[in-house]
Amino acid sequence: MRKLSEGQALLSILLSILFLFPSSIARDTVIPTQPLSFPDTLVSSNRTFALGFFPPNNSTNYFLGIWYNNISVHTVVWVANRQSPVTNSSSATLSISTNGNLTVSQQQNSTFTSIITPSSALSNPVAKLLDNGNFVIMESGSDFNDNRSYVWQSFDHPTDTLLPGMKLGWDFTRGLNRNLTGWKSDSDPAQGPYTLAMDTRGDPQLAFWSGSNRGWRSGPWTGYQFSGVPETRTYTAFNFYFVNDKQEVYYMYTVSDPSVITRLVMNQSGTVQRFVWLEGTGEWSVYWYTPKTACDSYAPCGPYGTCDPNDSPICSCLPGFVPKSPQDWALRDGRGGCVRQTRLDCKNRTDGFMTVSNLLLPDTVNVTVDMNMSLEECKTMCLMNCSCTGYSNADVRNGGSGCITWQGDLMDSAISVDGGQDFFVRLAASDLKTLLSQSQSEKRKHKAIIAVVSVLLALLLVISLAAYVWRRKRQGKQCCCFLSVPDSSDEQYIVERTENEDLELPLFGLEMVVAATNNFSFENKLGEGGFGPVYLGKLDDGQEIAVKTLSKTSIQGRDEFKNEVMLIAKLQHRNLVRLLGCCIHGEQRILIYEYLPNRSLDAFLFDKERSALLDWRTRYRIIEGIARGLLYLHQDSRFRIIHRDLKASNILLDEAMNPKISDFGMARIFGGDQTKAMTLRVVGTYGYMSPEYAMDGIFSVKSDVFSFGVLMLEIISGTRNRGVYLSDPDEYLLGRAWNLWIEGNGLQLVDPSIGHLYSKNEVLRCIKIGLLCVQEHPEDRPTMSSVVLMLASEDAGIPKPKQPGFVLRKGYAEGDSSSSKPEFQTGNDLTFTMSIGR
Ligand SMILES: *[C@@H]1O[C@H](CO)[C@@H](O)[C@H](O)[C@H]1NC(C)=O
Ligand SMILES: *[C@@H]1O[C@H](CO)[C@@H](O)[C@H](O)[C@H]1NC(C)=O
Ligand SMILES: *[C@@H]1O[C@H](CO)[C@@H](O)[C@H](O)[C@H]1NC(C)=O
Ligand SMILES: *[C@@H]1O[C@H](CO)[C@@H](O)[C@H](O)[C@H]1NC(C)=O
Ligand SMILES: *[C@@H]1O[C@H](CO)[C@@H](O)[C@H](O)[C@H]1NC(C)=O
Ligand SMILES: *[C@@H]1O[C@H](CO)[C@@H](O)[C@H](O)[C@H]1NC(C)=O
Ligand SMILES: *[C@@H]1O[C@H](CO)[C@@H](O)[C@H](O)[C@H]1NC(C)=O
Ligand SMILES: *[C@@H]1O[C@H](CO)[C@@H](O)[C@H](O)[C@H]1NC(C)=O
Ligand SMILES: *[C@@H]1O[C@H](CO)[C@@H](O)[C@H](O)[C@H]1NC(C)=O
Ligand SMILES: *[C@@H]1O[C@H](CO)[C@@H](O)[C@H](O)[C@H]1NC(C)=O
Ligand SMILES: *[C@@H]1O[C@H](CO)[C@@H](O)[C@H](O)[C@H]1NC(C)=O
Ligand SMILES: *[C@@H]1O[C@H](CO)[C@@H](O)[C@H](O)[C@H]1NC(C)=O
Repeated sequence: MRKLSEGQALLSILLSILFLFPSSIARDTVIPTQPLSFPDTLVSSNRTFALGFFPPNNSTNYFLGIWYNNISVHTVVWVANRQSPVTNSSSATLSISTNGNLTVSQQQNSTFTSIITPSSALSNPVAKLLDNGNFVIMESGSDFNDNRSYVWQSFDHPTDTLLPGMKLGWDFTRGLNRNLTGWKSDSDPAQGPYTLAMDTRGDPQLAFWSGSNRGWRSGPWTGYQFSGVPETRTYTAFNFYFVNDKQEVYYMYTVSDPSVITRLVMNQSGTVQRFVWLEGTGEWSVYWYTPKTACDSYAPCGPYGTCDPNDSPICSCLPGFVPKSPQDWALRDGRGGCVRQTRLDCKNRTDGFMTVSNLLLPDTVNVTVDMNMSLEECKTMCLMNCSCTGYSNADVRNGGSGCITWQGDLMDSAISVDGGQDFFVRLAASDLKTLLSQSQSEKRKHKAIIAVVSVLLALLLVISLAAYVWRRKRQGKQCCCFLSVPDSSDEQYIVERTENEDLELPLFGLEMVVAATNNFSFENKLGEGGFGPVYLGKLDDGQEIAVKTLSKTSIQGRDEFKNEVMLIAKLQHRNLVRLLGCCIHGEQRILIYEYLPNRSLDAFLFDKERSALLDWRTRYRIIEGIARGLLYLHQDSRFRIIHRDLKASNILLDEAMNPKISDFGMARIFGGDQTKAMTLRVVGTYGYMSPEYAMDGIFSVKSDVFSFGVLMLEIISGTRNRGVYLSDPDEYLLGRAWNLWIEGNGLQLVDPSIGHLYSKNEVLRCIKIGLLCVQEHPEDRPTMSSVVLMLASEDAGIPKPKQPGFVLRKGYAEGDSSSSKPEFQTGNDLTFTMSIGR
């Protein structure tokens, strides 16, 4: 039965080939006695590429080209006669003469285009289409896997597409300049205005050309990547190469997973795009492109200006420089650039250097590179040379090596946190002095403020202590509350408050909190958090607060607790719930948070009716928001915080359904008995706990990543991850997600209440990232920074997930009852605390 259907399939393929190309069976070579005429095609031996004559869309002309043979969208990757089309297809022919000249011709017009005249005469030439898309000419019988036998290859003459294994750049020995030039239009593959080429002047870099005007440039190769393309390092599916020696300067990439089909294209409108083929959806997806931002044009901020795409206005001057034309700059036109405040004084050797961090290096066309020089030697050399305006390391790997020195104007530098590096700009002594004293006076001011503040604080402390003692005497019931006033700014990263602002923290009595919550009345109760009940409160000024009372189990002392809370209250991020302050009353501890009316994510996600309010865009925004908030906790805040209890009920939603992580300070506040990596008390919610944490009490940022992964899959599927060791893995969310994923049915996981309005790619990418996060081994799981990157990038760079933790433990859980693993109950969503005997 099966044999038969395979045979039928083969037959139908053969028939269709015969039907499409009636005059010949597909072959992969052209020899003198067998020219190729339209509509025949050559097909590479593993059937990946095809070569033949094709008409572009809306054109009556025919061109000889190479396209993907096995892809449903006709995609041309190379054109032989882009400037000289064949007008009558019925006589279009590709032939190779006995001496090896390859020509495209149409008989009755007797015009022909010589594609190539080989450098050495061949006695028995053959032209062959290889599996990698390279069309080569060689002596018949020589080894077509050895590139030394090619007397000519299409890879040396790219059109607009760079395939894996093709080189973009110079071969000096053969005088080849391999560059990509976009088509004129969809219907005309002739050379358009835009070219991507290797600029070998100074320190080589890729650059756009439109005629003789240079546009975007990649910046020099830093050892890991082109400095202007920092994303490169996160693309694990590709290998990137940059070779710069006497014979060659080129850029090349290969794919590490041969099933990934990708191409880099210079498109007709002046954008470089990297595409990857998505077989599932049957389309090319743009994985990366450039130019992206206003800073990607050439020198938008002129000489000595620097561009920051995340700033507004984008232009500023390098330190020690001022706008040349302040009027233009005021009108947001920075192209005029900047000028020195003070002229250099080279003769007296008084000049010095100012460090500029995270700088995407200025244009390197006029630089001098010496790979054997240290940074110190580099500095000396620059100082000795009166036209030198700055220097930097040529290779940033291993702490930096090599020396680049700039002569003349510093053009087209930009701020790039990911791709930038330290740059040292030459300044006159007086400018340096001013800059240094400015930064010092800032520090001094800071110090002065701190001094004043400490005195005031001390005073305050004495007064409040006195008041405290007095009140304690008077009523025997005391409290000390600290409440910081939220500010209304909604920057993603609000700079942490400086010491002096703590002064503004008003002190509140417990009475106030009691009044605000109606004496902790039942009506005001919002719910039960992991550590105690939560109440809604309303301050006198109308501000609503959430009041969280902590059960009296904390082991922290009062001051420790207060300090901890004050530290955490300073953490500010759009995706974290603001902790406003705390109250300490004897053993009782109370935390005061901003109140978010939309309650928590689980109230929406797992509710049949309300879940329909979460369309895919909202869910995706929620996922992104949580990822950013968590990244901030893990990395970007002043101290590393591991949440340890990330779950849907700890994600609160504001009016606009923006997610805010709550309870993020609890791990720290309750952190008395833990070393860096181990805890005796396991705090958390199962379903969200990583294997290593639940079993061994080992936690790290990666246990949070696990919880995040579970949360992500819950958001996509709208179902809770219940239990851990269930007999049917399909009842266990991670198991179900994994099984659907490996079967290729990932989309079946999607919550039906989302409807059909979603991007399949995005959903599949999210499922993939979710699965990556819940992998069994912490070291396999990505960090939150790569999660954030992966969420923003396209699919192909994301590694394949391995089996989630817990999933395959079925047999182990059922069979091995002697194991010492802790007992879990199922179906409960409350945070629990558990002691592991050791
Ligand atoms: C072909 O040309 C027609 C009319 O000029 C236009 O509407 C159509 O979009 C073109 N098709 C393609 C594929 O470019
Ligand atoms: C052609 O593509 C189909 C669909 O992706 C795939 O199943 C098949 O193996 C491919 N054939 C070859 C020869 O690559
Ligand atoms: C022509 O245009 C159609 C529709 O836009 C597209 O599917 C097809 O691949 C194009 N063909 C070529 C040769 O570009
Ligand atoms: C194209 O060539 C065929 C055969 O050689 C000929 O019959 C036909 O008239 C030609 N068409 C044009 C437009 O020249
Ligand atoms: C073919 O090659 C020979 C040298 O091998 C050269 O003299 C001749 O001009 C070439 N013909 C064409 C049409 O390019
Ligand atoms: C021959 O081909 C060229 C283009 O290659 C065309 O301009 C010319 O009109 C054609 N001549 C004849 C007689 O068909
Ligand atoms: C065909 O060969 C190329 C180059 O060796 C390889 O990358 C590709 O995966 C192969 N394709 C198939 C379908 O075997
Ligand atoms: C030939 O292939 C080798 C190994 O793949 C490579 O190192 C070399 O650069 C290639 N030479 C040319 C001219 O493409
Ligand atoms: C691109 O390559 C072609 C052929 O080698 C050369 O003539 C042209 O000048 C190159 N363009 C640029 C911008 O390097
Ligand atoms: C070129 O790429 C840009 C960016 O991806 C895209 O917006 C534009 O439509 C592309 N142009 C063409 C003609 O495909
Ligand atoms: C530099 O040297 C010149 C004489 O060559 C002198 O007049 C000038 O004051 C010196 N400047 C500084 C800043 O020392
Ligand atoms: C490089 O040097 C040339 C000649 O001195 C000059 O015209 C050009 O503006 C310089 N380019 C940059 C980017 O400094």
